[in-house]
Amino acid sequence: MSTPVRVAVTGAAGQIGYALVFRIASGQMFGPDTPVHLQLLEITPALDALQGVAMELEDGAFPLLAGMTLTDDAAEAFDGTNVACLVGAKPRGPGMERADLLKDNGAIFTGQGRALADNAADDLKVAVVGNPANTNALIAAANAEGVPTERFSAMVRLDENRAKSQLANKAGVSVAEVTNLAVWGNHSPTMVPDFDNARIGGQPLTDVIEDRGWLEGEFLSTVQQRGKAIIDARGASSAASAANALIDHVANWCGGKPTPEGDWVSMAVPSDGSYGVPEGLICGFPVTTDGAGAYRIVEGLELSGFTQAKLGSTVAELEEERDAVSDML
Ligand code: NAD
Ligand code: LMR
Repeated sequence: MSTPVRVAVTGAAGQIGYALVFRIASGQMFGPDTPVHLQLLEITPALDALQGVAMELEDGAFPLLAGMTLTDDAAEAFDGTNVACLVGAKPRGPGMERADLLKDNGAIFTGQGRALADNAADDLKVAVVGNPANTNALIAAANAEGVPTERFSAMVRLDENRAKSQLANKAGVSVAEVTNLAVWGNHSPTMVPDFDNARIGGQPLTDVIEDRGWLEGEFLSTVQQRGKAIIDARGASSAASAANALIDHVANWCGGKPTPEGDWVSMAVPSDGSYGVPEGLICGFPVTTDGAGAYRIVEGLELSGFTQAKLGSTVAELEEERDAVSDML
């Protein structure tokens, strides 16, 4: 057995945490040959609940679970961390936008950014889920002095998965047939699922689904508003599907599961100026990954006028969010 990967999960006793940690322990994030040490962070009042989660992890008798740390101290939670899943933050309730969480949740990520810089392993990689995820990742990166900013990402994979399911249903094909589907921009109602560059069964998606009115209308708004629709239906924000998307995000990035040849996945990563997105903004892009910690933004894609205009709006929103938290950067 190799050395365990040290995986920190913040908010581990929350909804997403509960749907996530068992899957990490069972090998779904890092593969069937890689042991994991779970470093679980919670706020003090949730430590009893966290203890219960840990008891259930023990009761799972997972052969790959090499150890656990339970703590309310970020320095301890991030000690030697290779991969940090920053989930712990308030979810929005009915009638709220994710950006409404900015002031409350943003503060969590200043301290956690510093604690990561001071304590984590040299190969640290960070995936932010807590909303508003892109800007929280920006805050964490800005406070993690000495850690290269490209190690910080935010999750837009749930949006990609949602879009793929909608498209597969419309085309009457298996979801595996839908490839090259990028979600550009912010994890917010302005996000842009790029149907122009996506493929179904290897064909351009727009040759298979010719109803452009549906793509630009119902499809787009269904994906953009899916988080709200889940909250309205469940009375709580998405959890199992969010945990599932995080498994996909990390597995492709550094869990030994590279992006298949010719395909790409969506990650919100610091912009290098590609596609006119201002450098440094944490923005959803199409990326290829090697499964060992490296990713590259896919270059040279042509965006339709429709997608280009939508990209402009989502980038403008990211800039507004960045400006609203300038005191935390
Ligand atoms: P939840 O309220 O069920 O759980 C959050 C947990 O975080 C709680 O147990 C809480 O005690 C803990 N927590 C709060 N502050 C903390 C801190 N400073 N350090 C450590 N732990 C802390 O919420 P949830 O449903 O699990 O959602 C978590 C976050 O993920 C929310 O912000 C939600 O909006 C977001 N989310 C993002 C996506 C995405 O696609 N990016 C999808 C779903 C949910
Ligand atoms: C989601 O997309 O399901 C999450 O970001 C939760 C939310 O507030 O919509």
